Amino acid sequence: MKTLLTEDELQAGVDRMASEIAAWYSHRPLTIVGVLTGSIVLLADLIRQLDMPLRVGVLQASSYREGTTRGALTINSEMMLDVRERDVLLVDDIFDTGHTLVEVIREVEQLEPTSVRTAVLLRKAGRQEVDLDIDFIAFDIPNEFVVGYGLDYEDQYRNLRHLAALEPEDLTETGS
Ligand code: IMP
Ligand code: MG
Repeated sequence: MKTLLTEDELQAGVDRMASEIAAWYSHRPLTIVGVLTGSIVLLADLIRQLDMPLRVGVLQASSYREGTTRGALTINSEMMLDVRERDVLLVDDIFDTGHTLVEVIREVEQLEPTSVRTAVLLRKAGRQEVDLDIDFIAFDIPNEFVVGYGLDYEDQYRNLRHLAALEPEDLTETGS
């Protein structure tokens, strides 16, 4: 594995994104909805950089069934807060093909929020298959499979403090 972003670089990028978010909402109450599981580390760091009134909820979207190949998407929003007439900011780890966020937005919009915006840690180059503009992005990265800072490969490596790109020899059994 090779390091793509160090812990310090990640922190700086999240701080920068938090400033943009705070400036945009300018103390309007915000409902942040983290997309589990990949957003957990970003969510924890981001909300502590936001000095404004906010509520935090989560929903779960799972698409990666095996290895690095996308499977069918399932969304579980049973744990989510009431978002009716709220400004909602969806927080996810990575904007890859974009199908996950498009479907999550569709689901959340049915609950009649005032607005829905999106924030992601990473946007992967040349992968998007949907027509969606992300509102807040911390980093653009090359088209590589990355792990750490919440992102996994077969449910491993979410706990790495830095962001690493997998190399061909890493794409094997992880002993999980
Ligand atoms: P999308 O629907 O293709 O945009 O994929 C979104 C989800 O796939 C993300 O929320 C991640 O959970 C997962 N994913 C996409 N690319 C990567 C990666 O490079 N590493 C780990 N997970 C990824
Ligand atoms: Mg995810």
